Amino acid sequence: MEKPEKHIFVCASYRVTGAPQGVCHKKGSINLLQYLETEIDDRGLNVAFSSTGCLKMCDKGPILIVQPDNVWYGNVDSEKAIDEILDAVENNKTADTYVL
Ligand code: FES
Repeated sequence: MEKPEKHIFVCASYRVTGAPQGVCHKKGSINLLQYLETEIDDRGLNVAFSSTGCLKMCDKGPILIVQPDNVWYGNVDSEKAIDEILDAVENNKTADTYVL
């Protein structure tokens, strides 16, 4: 696999013990990972993704970060939100509705 152009991080609320217990998890962030993976593949994007521990912005969760752009998104709680963010990634723009 070649080095990805971008890396998307999705808060899954993991704690040090490994158990997902926080706000983003409760709001369904993990359920969106499968959709995110499918969309990245379908679009043929050279983008990696990972789930993370709490990113300390719980009140705005679920949180998603696009690196190396360092664009932070909040309230990413639907497939529609993922679509808009991936549209923005493809076009080197930001999905302003969700930018923090
Ligand atoms: S649980 Fe996601 S930012 Fe805290």
